Amino acid sequence: MRVSAVVAVSGLSLLTPAAALVPVKFVNDCINFATGFENENTEVLSSTYVLKGTVIPLPDSCALSVTARANFCRVKLKITTSSSSQVITEAWLPTDWKGKGKRLVMNGNSGWGGCIQFEELAWTSGLGFAAIGHDTGHVGAVATGFTNPEVWKDWVYRSVLVATQAGKAATNHFYKTSLKKSYFIGCSTGGRHGLKLAQDYPDEYDGILAAAPAAYWPNIEISEALYAQAVGAEGSPTYLTRAQWDAVDAATMAQCDNIDGVLDGILENPADCAFDPEVMLCGSGQTWLLNGCLTAAQVQTVKTLYSPVTGNNGRYIYPGIVPGAMPSQGMILKYGPYAGFGARDFLRYVVFNNASYDLAQFNLDTADLILDNEWFGAYSNKSDLSGLQASGNKLLMYHGLADVAIPPTASYEYYDSVASNMSLTSSGLDPFFRFFPISSLGHCAQGKGAGYVGGPSQVQFYPGAANSVPAGNSALMSLVKWVEKNQAPKTLRGYKLGPLGETLGQKDHCKHPLKTTYKGHGNPNNRGSWKCT
Ligand SMILES: *[C@@H]1O[C@H](CO)[C@@H](O)[C@H](O)[C@H]1NC(C)=O
Ligand SMILES: *[C@@H]1O[C@H](CO)[C@@H](O)[C@H](O)[C@H]1NC(C)=O
Ligand SMILES: *[C@@H]1O[C@H](CO)[C@@H](O)[C@H](O)[C@H]1NC(C)=O
Repeated sequence: MRVSAVVAVSGLSLLTPAAALVPVKFVNDCINFATGFENENTEVLSSTYVLKGTVIPLPDSCALSVTARANFCRVKLKITTSSSSQVITEAWLPTDWKGKGKRLVMNGNSGWGGCIQFEELAWTSGLGFAAIGHDTGHVGAVATGFTNPEVWKDWVYRSVLVATQAGKAATNHFYKTSLKKSYFIGCSTGGRHGLKLAQDYPDEYDGILAAAPAAYWPNIEISEALYAQAVGAEGSPTYLTRAQWDAVDAATMAQCDNIDGVLDGILENPADCAFDPEVMLCGSGQTWLLNGCLTAAQVQTVKTLYSPVTGNNGRYIYPGIVPGAMPSQGMILKYGPYAGFGARDFLRYVVFNNASYDLAQFNLDTADLILDNEWFGAYSNKSDLSGLQASGNKLLMYHGLADVAIPPTASYEYYDSVASNMSLTSSGLDPFFRFFPISSLGHCAQGKGAGYVGGPSQVQFYPGAANSVPAGNSALMSLVKWVEKNQAPKTLRGYKLGPLGETLGQKDHCKHPLKTTYKGHGNPNNRGSWKCT
């Protein structure tokens, strides 16, 4: 054993029994990763061998630490994308890779990106994938860097493209053999990147898993700006507290929970629920404290948020929030005091380059100004997927039906736009594009029901799930089976999980346009009580 190899094994004392198992050649190859590695505009920042079980501190990330789920070589790359921008990419290359199908998976980002999804790199490298992640071109979940258009361009699409190419090159270089299949998984911004890849770079991935995609991004920001104005500041007459949103949810359930035939607090088909917030209006002399009702101003706020967003001259901009979207996820509150995440920062750092821009100034002319600009293709809404169809590659999309941040309606609309552009029925789309609505699932994760499907941005929200739920049933492995065995998914299995990852229920969510339908008898937490119709 070479001494240099030994010292570089992070966190490992040679005196531990595990040291006896260190694969010396693998460790040496890891340390010497940079030797002979070539990829355009790419510099190797570090390469370290990491033992399974190591708690890895993450000083540059949005998380504190992550536990390694495999023995792997951790490679950190810097890719220069212009004279003023760069993308940091990591490749976690597990020892047990050749026997696990020689696969690569790119783990997509969320929100403003800037945080490599380390929990997912751990999860997917533990499943034997060469796991790649990147920072979308800036550090942290912030948008300030977007005043530089090169950084904005990276976030929109360039980061995922260059990280894909570097990740593939790193994998092939390290294992000295060609990887067999590549996959992309991502939720929210990552879901949007997934659609972008399917639309513009359909040959890069054999399989793409796009969850709750933030397609129509500029339109989302317009809707958030208008929602922020509708909700108003905390304490203003239009504002609803968390308890009041929970009451809206309860009223929604009182009106609509039984439409799907079972009272379980879950709407299988929110579109069937024509919830009328007027039922919550206080009668004369009534108050929230005494009667649990809302003022006319608050009822109007609810109506505004649940209605489609339209601009000048009735221009359709974006769907409204769906009934049953979980206020418990807290996101609905962001339209008040937390409006900063999306709309405010988009307007400040991308649209106006003015850090003091206030959302109160937003109006429908600003909306037109936004919609008349390309934003480097941030809409990610191209409905022509003939490139993907011709490539033979697969796009699996799913969306939580209780998603308050990105209404699932947007994904139905995207699906319909593809069908319409390509003049294909759903069975015509089936060979390359399948969409699964997931009832009760919030934005990427959380919710009351069987929302853990083993997809992107999930493991970090369900402690223990990566251990307790069979990986073979995950959305990720459903995609792998579709690509590698031509076993196309008809359902996605969702798990309702307890605090330790224990299974409290299961449901097989059906492929759109079929509906997940209660058989009329049996425990709703049992997947046998449901069928696709
Ligand atoms: C930036 O926004 C502030 C606040 O709305 C406004 O007063 C100011 O005029 C803007 N600056 C520029 C350069 O447009
Ligand atoms: C994508 O969105 C833009 C902006 O709303 C719109 O102009 C364009 O028509 C949309 N494209 C498709 C294919 O729907
Ligand atoms: C489909 O999309 C392509 C590319 O955006 C566009 O050129 C074409 O006109 C669309 N076709 C239909 C029928 O909408």
